[in-house]
Amino acid sequence: MQNFVFHNPTKILFGKGTVPSIGNETAAYGKKVLLVYGSGSIKKTGLYAQVKESLQEAGLEIIEHPGVQSNPLLSHVRKGIALSKEHSCQVVCAVGGGSVIDEAKAICAGATVQHDVWKFFTGKKSIKSPLPLTTVLTLAAAGSEMNSGMVITNDETSQKFGFGNKQLYPKMSILDPTLTFSVPANYTAYGAVDAISHILEFYFTTQDPCTAVQDRLMEGLIINAMESCNRVLLNPDDYDARADLMWTATLALNGLTAAGLGMVGFPMHMIEHTLSAFYNVPHGAGLSAIIPGWMRFQAPAQPQRFAQFAERVFDIRTGSDQEKASQGIESLSKWFQKIHTPVTITELEVPAEDISKIAENAITLAKVWRLRDYNTKKIESILRNCQ
Ligand code: NZQ
Ligand code: ZN
Repeated sequence: MQNFVFHNPTKILFGKGTVPSIGNETAAYGKKVLLVYGSGSIKKTGLYAQVKESLQEAGLEIIEHPGVQSNPLLSHVRKGIALSKEHSCQVVCAVGGGSVIDEAKAICAGATVQHDVWKFFTGKKSIKSPLPLTTVLTLAAAGSEMNSGMVITNDETSQKFGFGNKQLYPKMSILDPTLTFSVPANYTAYGAVDAISHILEFYFTTQDPCTAVQDRLMEGLIINAMESCNRVLLNPDDYDARADLMWTATLALNGLTAAGLGMVGFPMHMIEHTLSAFYNVPHGAGLSAIIPGWMRFQAPAQPQRFAQFAERVFDIRTGSDQEKASQGIESLSKWFQKIHTPVTITELEVPAEDISKIAENAITLAKVWRLRDYNTKKIESILRNCQ
């Protein structure tokens, strides 16, 4: 186990009936709030009215910034920053999924500086005292509600970059599983795949041979994500299944699973971000289409690790490490098909002739993320493995 610092300052209020606390929790950080939300799901579910009432009862003046799209765009972030500056907002409250929370984080970061917010994502500028953020999560997937990361698509350059800084942790987040009852089956499945992908990235990129604690934690969370997703797809109003999936997705990317693993990377996300930047596919669907091909490409280099994954997650115990490894990958791919997420980029209608263009774009993120063992040739080979 490598040395590590684990410090996650986000306060979590988990469970049914926690939404009315958002007003007082947010009022602790200011009197004027920028309320950030998506394209309407919270209005359909009644959550919008509940949040507004709670914020007003707490004496907050509300400035609204709606219309965050899935895979949020830099142009819309810039509008949110201008609005926040115009009204001197002191706190930001995000109500939605990962796209809404990420856009809110970018607004928090950009609202207190004079330079363009994209300079954070390219590493040209470092974060300086961003506005405080509170969130109400409505979709179990990305983990943004309890981490310091944000992912934004630059709609001028079609680059979808992720960036992290410890000042971007939300101050507090409300996780009420009943808010996810309305998430449709496809996005429920994409969310489960995203949570699993975060763990797979850590599991297969750590170089430390002694990660017994983290391995059991990660294997357990993957099993939880699959089991709870299966239960939710059978009954979308199953509170306990929705609660299990929600907390699993939060724990998958809040720093707990990575603590002690040393250097880890996000190669599958590096490639996926180009797919959602170019074709606006849902993040989890893009990952589902890449994971089996990337694992088949990677397994020959780590047969024992992939065999352990197969044994402990799918109870595959016969054959050589190579045989177990490929059976494990096929079992995961079969589960993706069972929950109706794509297992090839062809299913996402990614044209074969675009592969080199995708690799050229993805490598720009690989450089920012210091994924030094990736070049365009390798990314192209992986993408051909995903067809
Ligand atoms: O916009 P609204 O109307 O809210 O509709 C959303 C959106 O269309 C809908 N939705 C959300 N909650 C709902 C609901 N529909 C019905 N009932 C509800 N309760 O679902 C759609 C998808 O929402 P979105 O926020 O885009 O999904 P997700 O939470 O998967 O977030 C995806 C974004 O997170 C980024 C991804 O790249 C992508 O941009 N990620 C952020 C990470 C981070 N900050 O650490 C890490 C992840 O790897 C990921 O990259
Ligand atoms: Zn992800």
